[in-house]
Amino acid sequence: MTAAYVTEPGAAPARAAVRSEDGTSPRERDTERRTVTAPDLITVHDLKMHFPVTEGALVPRVVAHVKAVDGISFTIRKGETLGLVGESGCGKTTTGRCILRLELATAGEILFDGNNLIELDRKSMNALRQKIQVIFQDPYSSLNPRMKIGEIIAEPMQVHRTEPDRAARAARVTELLRLCGLDPKFADRYPHEMSGGQRQRVGIARALSVRPEFIICDEAISALDVSIQAQIINLLEDLRDEFNLTYLFIAHDLSVVRHLCHRVAVMYLGKIVELAECDELYNNPMHPYTQALLAAVPVPDPEVERRRAHQIVKGEVPSPMNPPSGCVFHPRCRLAVEDCARAVPEFRELRLGHWVACSVI
Ligand SMILES: Nc1ncnc2c1ncn2[C@@H]1O[C@H](COP(=O)(O)OP(=O)(O)O)[C@@H](O)[C@H]1O
Ligand code: SF4
Ligand SMILES: [Mg+2]
Repeated sequence: MTAAYVTEPGAAPARAAVRSEDGTSPRERDTERRTVTAPDLITVHDLKMHFPVTEGALVPRVVAHVKAVDGISFTIRKGETLGLVGESGCGKTTTGRCILRLELATAGEILFDGNNLIELDRKSMNALRQKIQVIFQDPYSSLNPRMKIGEIIAEPMQVHRTEPDRAARAARVTELLRLCGLDPKFADRYPHEMSGGQRQRVGIARALSVRPEFIICDEAISALDVSIQAQIINLLEDLRDEFNLTYLFIAHDLSVVRHLCHRVAVMYLGKIVELAECDELYNNPMHPYTQALLAAVPVPDPEVERRRAHQIVKGEVPSPMNPPSGCVFHPRCRLAVEDCARAVPEFRELRLGHWVACSVI
């Protein structure tokens, strides 16, 4: 079944939410153009991934569920980059794996180009896989150490039969290496002969080789040095603009998504707690968890640091096997009231395009 949602939670606004009287920033203008004209490429509706926990070796029985993703919704328009941010274990990778159908979601819908990925048969899904690629966090372990760089980049073209001819594949490898800022001579080298930043460029070239429309970047820059992170973000931005790519950019840290993303969704314990355009989220964070995440991003001004220190969230993230009742953030929330432990907050659009799951603000 496929469905079109008129007021989908987490939908991109019909016009830019943030505008200044005296001129807009380039990203605001870009965001406005994009959100007004671009069609939706992917819509995730009430997605759940509950992993069963079993007991008993001979006759395993399900005794609990890990609620890795617990009812999230968002839309990404063509050419848009959505950041998905939250602490480790909140369900970011699982969300990406459900979209790639490496996990079969427990419930919900993932509409891509009008197809519900959860219900597609294997053959149709394999055909669509070419359009959805992934770049992983760890460029050290995601490249096969026994394959040459040229073979690694050519492999998806062979799997999806996009370039059946060997010479055409070799020409495309050269083109992709150049596009990703690498010397074509690297085609004959092995991953261990390259630096972390160069390997991540190879990961990007491999993802691009089959001309995808949508790329999931799962912590794609987290393992790199800060100076290299900036270069890879610039490369991703250039490639997005050149090929009209759409990204889901997963990161555990809000500071790295600001430059690249048009909108950002903040995840906590399997749920999206806030979603807004990037500048709006940074300038006007509403959810106490987003405020705490932003307070953890260091700023050079010691006075500002002191004022923000009280917002830093205390304690550990609870287990997704036994999440807190009501608002899952209530045991750590500085604004929590008695009712927060009882009622699950609705995901509400409090300003245009700015969605928040908190019943107190
Ligand atoms: N295959 C699995 N079986 C059981 N639990 C899983 C599985 N994959 C992930 N999880 C759990 O789901 C939660 C979310 O994991 P993940 O999506 O990797 O988080 P993130 O990418 O945000 O760090 C974690 O508690 C993790 O242990
Ligand atoms: S609903 Fe309550 S516990 Fe949840 S974020 Fe809002 S104030 Fe905090
Ligand atoms: Mg992860």
